[in-house]
Amino acid sequence: MGLPEERGRSGSGSRAQEEAGAGGQARSWSPPPEVSRSAHVPSLQRYRELHRRSVEEPREFWGDIAKEFYWKTPCPGPFLRYNFDVTKGKIFIEWMKGAITNICYNVLDRNVHEKKLGDKVAFYWEGNEPGETTQITYHELLVQVCQFSNVLRKQGIQKGDRVAIYMPMIPELVVAMLACARIGALHSIVISWNQGIDLWWHELMQEAGDECEPEWCDAEDPLFILYTSGSTGKPKGVVHTVGGYMLYVATTFKYVFDFHAADVFWCTADIGWITGHSYVTYGPLANGATSVLFEGIPTYPDVSRLWSIVDKYKVTKFYTAPTAIRLLMKFGDEPVTKHSRATLQVLGTVGEPINPEAWLWYHRVVGAQRCPIVDTFWQTETGGHMLTPLPGATPMKPGSATFPFFGVAPAILNESGEELEGEAEGYLVFKQPWPGIMRTVYGNHERFETTYFKKFPGYYVTGDGCRRDQDGYYWITGRIDDMLNVSGHLLSTAEVESALVEHEAVAEAAVVGHPHPVKGECLYCFVTLCDGHNFSPKLTEELKKQIREKIGPIATPDYIQNAPGLPKTRSGKIMRRVLRKIAQNDHDLGDTSTVADPSVISHLFSHRCLTIQ
Ligand code: WT7
Repeated sequence: MGLPEERGRSGSGSRAQEEAGAGGQARSWSPPPEVSRSAHVPSLQRYRELHRRSVEEPREFWGDIAKEFYWKTPCPGPFLRYNFDVTKGKIFIEWMKGAITNICYNVLDRNVHEKKLGDKVAFYWEGNEPGETTQITYHELLVQVCQFSNVLRKQGIQKGDRVAIYMPMIPELVVAMLACARIGALHSIVISWNQGIDLWWHELMQEAGDECEPEWCDAEDPLFILYTSGSTGKPKGVVHTVGGYMLYVATTFKYVFDFHAADVFWCTADIGWITGHSYVTYGPLANGATSVLFEGIPTYPDVSRLWSIVDKYKVTKFYTAPTAIRLLMKFGDEPVTKHSRATLQVLGTVGEPINPEAWLWYHRVVGAQRCPIVDTFWQTETGGHMLTPLPGATPMKPGSATFPFFGVAPAILNESGEELEGEAEGYLVFKQPWPGIMRTVYGNHERFETTYFKKFPGYYVTGDGCRRDQDGYYWITGRIDDMLNVSGHLLSTAEVESALVEHEAVAEAAVVGHPHPVKGECLYCFVTLCDGHNFSPKLTEELKKQIREKIGPIATPDYIQNAPGLPKTRSGKIMRRVLRKIAQNDHDLGDTSTVADPSVISHLFSHRCLTIQ
């Protein structure tokens, strides 16, 4: 497969965005002055200065940040050692090796004792049933974590042991994670209960003491294992370590959400996913933030639930996934606008490219044109944000994750591994380590090297396609494995899907390549319609026309199937791997353990398009 930099046109997402902007103009949104005024990074110029220092002098940059944390022993040797080049030997990354600390101590004891935040609310918990609520302060959290740490030690758990945790979105899940971290055990949050091994919380907590000396850990000791969602294959156990992860999630949280002490932060992600680990648990707590922890779903008891919670807790910074935005968009503006949302200051998204249409709705309706949107690109493997706007500094373009975070040096490579300058499209890679990068695949270091470092020696390979526009903005075009190749032209899933979602009848779309005798591959599209719209041959024609006009005749789909639901991972990512099989009527789906709602698969199989439309 060739890569699209030679396509000789300005490429993917932008066209849709440019037309989605006012009057067909290319449009970017400047940071609102009232946000910039009090922001940690108040201008693009300041961002550029800080970014330059962070990549040119990473040891000094992160060394200064490390001083804000508690170290039993500061880093005795090199602050950073690494090898990113498989041709030069084993891949390894070490930040602050030999420094001794404890992340639980840093996010709790330090906040309670040094920063005097004991009485500050750490979490407002909102249950699935409206009215079912609790809250927990930093002091209370520390006490419970100490108790549970004692429980774990009594069970014989020691430093380096692995503890699987199976719990819903309740404060006890945070307690359990932090207790593992306190005693140096690795936590691994799972989806199934293991009869015979697993134990009940309330029985264990009854007699536990409420003080517990932390286990002092090396900065490079493992903190947790997280299995990736597996949208493209067999899950991998991603290993993150104590020191680098702590610095990275604390710093990204502070700058990307422009955190201030009075904020009420709400990340809707499940704690079981990396977004929850980094931006429900560790990032906010490291900053002494107050967060909302929500057990329920956006549509219960009705589709305005999120906004009623925003008003109830006076949420200032709100972080969710494009899938949630597209879901809520289907129901129109009224469920949003009937709530005030006056406290909201910054909105965020993560998980997939956000279609410009969904971005504009999020900005106009949810954020009332007032709130910057941080479209954060990152991965389980990266630990924290990689490409993202900063709310007070970065002019935003809908659908672009904009620029690299501090310490991040992106490059775009062509198929031969050459770095492309200026406007270009190709493989997104990173040239040097940042503190939050994963260190290995659990139990299989070779798989770590093969997956991320073999293809282009010297670089960390994300597996995502990316375009850089004339202003230097980065646009994620989707997973490289999902790219579409029609008669030798490469198309990204993101560009075709964005063109479909621009149609008023379409709430969500997924596009896959499908074998074709002449073109090699043709486009097979799945579309989920908005409430009140019906699927019809007329609509199919309109959608084809729309794609022809937005992208070009080459992208005209051969098949468009009505999809009331799409197969997604539990974190909301569309599983195009499964959709490709459905389009081909191939029932050998491989590992589908991560599909959130398997019933949608049989429905899609039985309603396949049999003929070219
Ligand atoms: C993949 C990583 C990061 C936490 C949640 C997902 C896609 C993520 C964006 C974004 C475009 C995005 C990429 C990436 N992705 N955020 N803002 N724009 N694509 O973590 O399950 O490890 O998935 O999600 O394809 O590689 P994950």
